[in-house]
Amino acid sequence: LQAGPLAGKHVIVTSGPTHEPIDPVRYIANRSSGAQGTALARALAGLGAKVTFVTGPASVPPPEGVTVVRVETAAQMLGAVQAALPADAAVFAAAVADWRVQNAAQHKMKKDGSGQPPALQFAENPDILATVSQMQAGRPRLVVGFAAETEKVLDHATAKRLRKGCDWIVANDVSPETGIMGGDENAVTLITDKGAESWPRTGKDMVARRLAERIAEALA
Ligand code: C5P
Repeated sequence: LQAGPLAGKHVIVTSGPTHEPIDPVRYIANRSSGAQGTALARALAGLGAKVTFVTGPASVPPPEGVTVVRVETAAQMLGAVQAALPADAAVFAAAVADWRVQNAAQHKMKKDGSGQPPALQFAENPDILATVSQMQAGRPRLVVGFAAETEKVLDHATAKRLRKGCDWIVANDVSPETGIMGGDENAVTLITDKGAESWPRTGKDMVARRLAERIAEALA
């Protein structure tokens, strides 16, 4: 058994991008590396939590000492999170695709010689954070979301917290010039029911440790 302030607590962490298939060999994805979610899972395990780490196809390896559940699509990620419940806390750091391809092909799509490109149709994916935040029974005591924005970060993140029904939002600016997406550093603002606190820019591992400590305080 682990020691530490989170000993005996179960925390679910989602991380990484999702891949949404177009056909058996092609997919739609995004630039999430999974670095922040991975660092967070590591920090939570370091404080003694039992961590279920639900990860899309990330470019960094998962941490040691956690239960890893590998998924590809948003629908699979929701299923894996629901299967991992109950939990004391859930942190949704994954960059989930908003849309999946509704008319994904069963076989590899071919150029048909007509010069007409195929038309993809999209369907909205389930919102995992909102689904878990709004559970009527068995909701984790603390539900934390991330808000990666490129403009009006605080406004958008504050609205997102209310709209989704989560307890906290960790907001960050992922404009290309910040180098945050895919980089080693992060500068976040933690938004709770008490307001917003901005943390100085530092390594993603330090942001993770600080957030893990706050989660431990909230669950104490
Ligand atoms: O709405 P937006 O995608 O910006 O919200 C980001 C937050 O919501 C993140 O915590 C992300 O993990 C979560 N999310 C989710 N399921 C989705 C979309 C976003 O859990 N389908």
